[in-house]
Amino acid sequence: MNIRPARVDDLMGMQACNLQNLPENYTMKYYLYHALTWPQLSYVAEDNKGRIVGYILAKMEEDVTPEDEPHGHVTSISVLRSYRRLGLAKRLMVQSQEAMATVYRASYVSLHVRKSNRAALSLYRDTLGFTVKDIEKSTTLTERMHMRCGSPLKHLA
Ligand code: ACO
Repeated sequence: MNIRPARVDDLMGMQACNLQNLPENYTMKYYLYHALTWPQLSYVAEDNKGRIVGYILAKMEEDVTPEDEPHGHVTSISVLRSYRRLGLAKRLMVQSQEAMATVYRASYVSLHVRKSNRAALSLYRDTLGFTVKDIEKSTTLTERMHMRCGSPLKHLA
């Protein structure tokens, strides 16, 4: 399985993968905004026929206060069901986090994840060393956690 930077002609495949895997869906305009603004931060995983089986859609956080350090944000990541537990999400995350740090001098990366999402939580917390920053107040079961991570490479070393 090959991991490579996402190109504009991958965006339909990424959106199709997202629609299969997650309830949080985005317009094509939003995918395009990521790809054109931060072309180094989004990646795809492809099978040996070049079909997209996973993706990470990532950006630099724009909504920052003057005191805040530059940091990246993972908008969405997913891997098609039959390609899971092969280490693809971990590789996608590490590639994007490396690019955030080297290209944009990001000092950390943040993301949101539903508290009930055990697979993603384990990926972020146990494999990549993310910690919980805060939990969004919600009365529903879809309560989301705000997580962040300084250097994945330090954690994985
Ligand atoms: N149960 C428990 N731990 C898991 C699971 C699982 N089902 N899946 C992954 N992990 C953890 C394990 O620690 C695993 O390491 P190990 O295999 O050595 O035990 C580690 O994560 C790395 O796993 P990967 O193989 O890299 O993960 P995978 O490629 O299977 O993708 C993902 C994980 C993206 C969460 C996948 O299950 C998926 O696409 N889920 C649906 C979409 C989703 O929930 N995306 C995240 C939403 S949050 C956001 O987008 C910011």
